[in-house]
Amino acid sequence: MSTPRKIRLVVLISGRGSNLQAILDQAASGELPVEVAAVISNRLGVHGLERARQAGVPALELDHKHFADRPEFEAALIELIDQQQADLVVLAGFMRVLTAGFTEHYRGRLFNIHPSLLPKFRGLHTHERAIEAGETEHGASIHFVTAELDGGPIIVQARVPVLVGDDADTLAARVLEQEHRLYPLAIRWFAEQRLRLEGDQLYFDGQALTAPLRLESFTVA
Ligand code: GAR
Repeated sequence: MSTPRKIRLVVLISGRGSNLQAILDQAASGELPVEVAAVISNRLGVHGLERARQAGVPALELDHKHFADRPEFEAALIELIDQQQADLVVLAGFMRVLTAGFTEHYRGRLFNIHPSLLPKFRGLHTHERAIEAGETEHGASIHFVTAELDGGPIIVQARVPVLVGDDADTLAARVLEQEHRLYPLAIRWFAEQRLRLEGDQLYFDGQALTAPLRLESFTVA
């Protein structure tokens, strides 16, 4: 099989950057055919920026507080991303709501990772809410981003059990381990041109998806 062309990836973060690290590690090992062109954080001095520097990737800061409103911040963010000639933009713990102006600009080439089995538990505090709701299963989703918050077409999900005695931290840790496998996989599919968004319909290997893909179908336990 021929080696796929490396795509240019921009990763947006707001904090710790453990998903970013999983992406950087697989890019460095060659498992992931991407060049991480830049990491951009809307919060200054976060640990994810240090992870980017350690990997030799430009670590850029764009403080949303310096802008009068959301559209102004997003216009600057678009300019910064487009300077990198990004093929794909991924939100990895990027904790700003994005308007339609931004999401439409990157339609079909903007991913988010969300710590729940969407459409359940959009928004914040997903682990607490899953426990409170008495869920026996929880997980994480990768989806294309649209203007609807955590609402775009879902590509792939990873499931974990909710165990007796779990609190938000133990459950979050179990989910996060899966997130680190899930995000690089979805990015690889995009780089290999196996994923396509047409209107609101998602195609995988040329087939229209009627339900999200499941991580366990693609990996050995
Ligand atoms: C991850 O759990 C990610 O799913 C979540 O933030 C965490 C970031 O961790 N994202 C959201 O909640 C988006 N709404 P990380 O900085 O270590 O990758």
